Amino acid sequence: MSETSVGRRVEVANLAPTSSPKQRVRSEIVTDANSVRPLAARGGAAHVPTRSRWSHPTRARQHTGMTNRAGRLDAKVVLITGAGNGMGRAAALLFASEGARVVVADAIEAAGVATVDAVRAAGGEATFVAVDVSNAEQVEAMVDHAMTSYGGLHVLYNNAGILPPDDAGVVDTPEATWDRVLEVNLKGVFLGCRYGVPALLASGGGSIVNVSSVVALMGSAVPQIAYTASKGGVLALTRELAVEYARQGIRANALCPGPIETPLLMELLQDPEWARRRLVHIPMGRPGQAEELARAALFLASDDSSFMTGSTLVVDGGISAAYVTPE
Ligand SMILES: NC(=O)c1ccc[n+]([C@@H]2O[C@H](COP(=O)([O-])OP(=O)(O)OC[C@H]3O[C@@H](n4cnc5c(N)ncnc54)[C@H](O)[C@@H]3O)[C@@H](O)[C@H]2O)c1
Repeated sequence: MSETSVGRRVEVANLAPTSSPKQRVRSEIVTDANSVRPLAARGGAAHVPTRSRWSHPTRARQHTGMTNRAGRLDAKVVLITGAGNGMGRAAALLFASEGARVVVADAIEAAGVATVDAVRAAGGEATFVAVDVSNAEQVEAMVDHAMTSYGGLHVLYNNAGILPPDDAGVVDTPEATWDRVLEVNLKGVFLGCRYGVPALLASGGGSIVNVSSVVALMGSAVPQIAYTASKGGVLALTRELAVEYARQGIRANALCPGPIETPLLMELLQDPEWARRRLVHIPMGRPGQAEELARAALFLASDDSSFMTGSTLVVDGGISAAYVTPE
């Protein structure tokens, strides 16, 4: 996918999450940033919410789950940013199948509503909230939407991210591109945590999963300087957050995916040289699937990872372990 923010104009390629390059249908949705309105927008300056603003946290635990079997996220309320597409959508479907009530947050309403419809069609529970994760007021309203809809918040999955095609080397990357990538990928995670942490505390604690990237760990053969810097920031932010809240019932871990076959990547793989330079470094010889990332996110989101915080979970087909690839 690509996004620019010239004159508040946002261009997004919205692709079917499971489509192959040949099958993929590109529909460009132009959204004025003004049209991304929080459902529960409030006036006045943005501020960090306090416990007293929400209904009683134990309401969330009265949920019986969508199936009879015990799910790994039964009675949990999960908020996923960027859940309209790619890994976020795959996580929404998987988490709902594990008993979670899912708040699908995305900048593109049609994409987010499609995810909600898919979750409901599978027998799960979900609600949509429009958000630009770089906008404090909208992020505050997003968290309020979770609290008022489901009475709690137990998992905050900061997944939304962008990689514009003109994010390149340090000399070539336009300053506006640097600013927008940092705003969405790093400030978006900061804002999610700023408003999400009080909600998690008010709900008795929970798990934060922040999406970084393998490029935060090793230099990319194809430069994307703003994206790499933003994802490095996500790792550092996550570690510090984890330490600060470790004794208050909040865990925070980062996911570092390698190349995953989602609209974000497939857009860039249209350039054969970009694709060759990227894919040659994967020992497993293929990009990952969104569902494979979602399963790793489920581990971090659920109590299966109850003694993990401040960690980095690398899911990269062996990239970061390789000195040379098999061929
Ligand atoms: N696909 C990969 O190869 C790969 C690899 C490493 C890390 N990641 C990271 O994983 C995360 C998900 O990537 P993906 O490949 O599923 O992306 P994607 O483009 O398929 O989906 C991202 C979703 O985020 C939404 N979004 C974009 N900007 C937003 C904003 N400002 N506010 C709210 N929503 C916004 C989009 O509308 C879209 O629905 C991103 O943080 C990305 O950087 C992806």
